Amino acid sequence: MYDKIIHLDTVDSTNLYADKLCRSGGGIPLAVVADFQTKGSGRMGRSFHSPEGAGIYMTYILDTENVCTLNLITTAAGLAVAEVLEENCAVSPEIKWPNDILLSTGKVCGILTRLITDGGKIRFALIGIGINVSGRKDDFPEEIKNIATTLEEETGKIFDKEALINKVVVKLNEVFADRKYTEEEIIEKVKKCSAMLGKTVFVKSENREFTALDISSDGGLVVRDGEEIKVIHSGEVEMA
Ligand code: BTN
Repeated sequence: MYDKIIHLDTVDSTNLYADKLCRSGGGIPLAVVADFQTKGSGRMGRSFHSPEGAGIYMTYILDTENVCTLNLITTAAGLAVAEVLEENCAVSPEIKWPNDILLSTGKVCGILTRLITDGGKIRFALIGIGINVSGRKDDFPEEIKNIATTLEEETGKIFDKEALINKVVVKLNEVFADRKYTEEEIIEKVKKCSAMLGKTVFVKSENREFTALDISSDGGLVVRDGEEIKVIHSGEVEMA
């Protein structure tokens, strides 16, 4: 069933394309990859800037039958991509909870996971991954110039997108199908490269600042304000 990667020139969004495939009842590929997205979407209803040929826009389709805690899917996917970038691009990625990947000059990768249910049961997780590969910070639209970066901007090198896509798929297979890491190891590794722990963070749903303390065993962000300790599981948390 999981035997191929679908490559598209242009698509609205690889997440939407994968969503339709999963609901169609036909064969399910391992991943959907596109060179260009006309409607790339990000977390919190934002769009994801997806210029033609400049990035990796892909959705990895995970059968949730036998995977780790559902809450950890997105955490584990962030770790997998961070490891691929570290091992292949000579960069030192940090993970900004829940799973943005940062390099020293900004965000290089965003991940958006959607769950597909069937008869009330979660059936697939669509792990949408956008990596800014080539181009410079100045090429981004004004509103994200200061927060986004590319692998080229950071390293001065142009990376082979196909090779990186294959590395990402292999790593995701290792993490999810082969269970390369235990859940505890996933959390420990994510903590080691977390951009947030020990820092002051602004939690939008609370409209106030906390100190980020820890990552919980189910991937939540543990924050403290004085005596009050909370675990944040979703929503927007920014570094203050
Ligand atoms: C974020 O940073 O908010 C998440 C961005 C996720 C972008 C990827 S690109 C491939 C896949 N298709 C989409 O429409 N979004 C994800």
